[in-house]
Amino acid sequence: MMYALLNFRVRGNHDGKLIALEKGDDFPFEIKRVYYIWDTAHDVVRGKHAHRNLEQVIICTSGSCDFILDNGQEKVTVHLDNPTQGLYIPGNTWREFTNFSADCVIMVLASEHYAESDYIRDYDTFLKEIAA
Ligand code: TYD
Repeated sequence: MMYALLNFRVRGNHDGKLIALEKGDDFPFEIKRVYYIWDTAHDVVRGKHAHRNLEQVIICTSGSCDFILDNGQEKVTVHLDNPTQGLYIPGNTWREFTNFSADCVIMVLASEHYAESDYIRDYDTFLKEIAA
């Protein structure tokens, strides 16, 4: 599986909306790290790496952007523009993200603490590792 789109349960009424995420039926892992990205120019391409073991759920909490995912055999583009959806990305998936709207805020929920050793930042190395 290269990715999954998770649909989160919204607790909403006329006062507004709320989504709560914790490990369980709706969410695939224990969250160890959260980071968020904003103020990114429209044409910038971020990412350009894979993780060996890290699992992530990406939520576009505001605005929109495109994630291009690549497992070495096929590429898919996933457009994110809805805070009720989470893009689950398993390990060994090359990702690039771009086409940021001016109001785009991306929140990333990660299964592990930050570890540079978990990154594959070179595409040819990525292809070699997944073929091994
Ligand atoms: P990087 O993951 O390369 O950003 P992106 O994939 O969004 O383009 O990270 C950018 C910088 O931030 C890099 O120097 C590493 C640092 N960083 C941390 O220190 N902790 C973190 O949890 C993350 C995700 C990045």
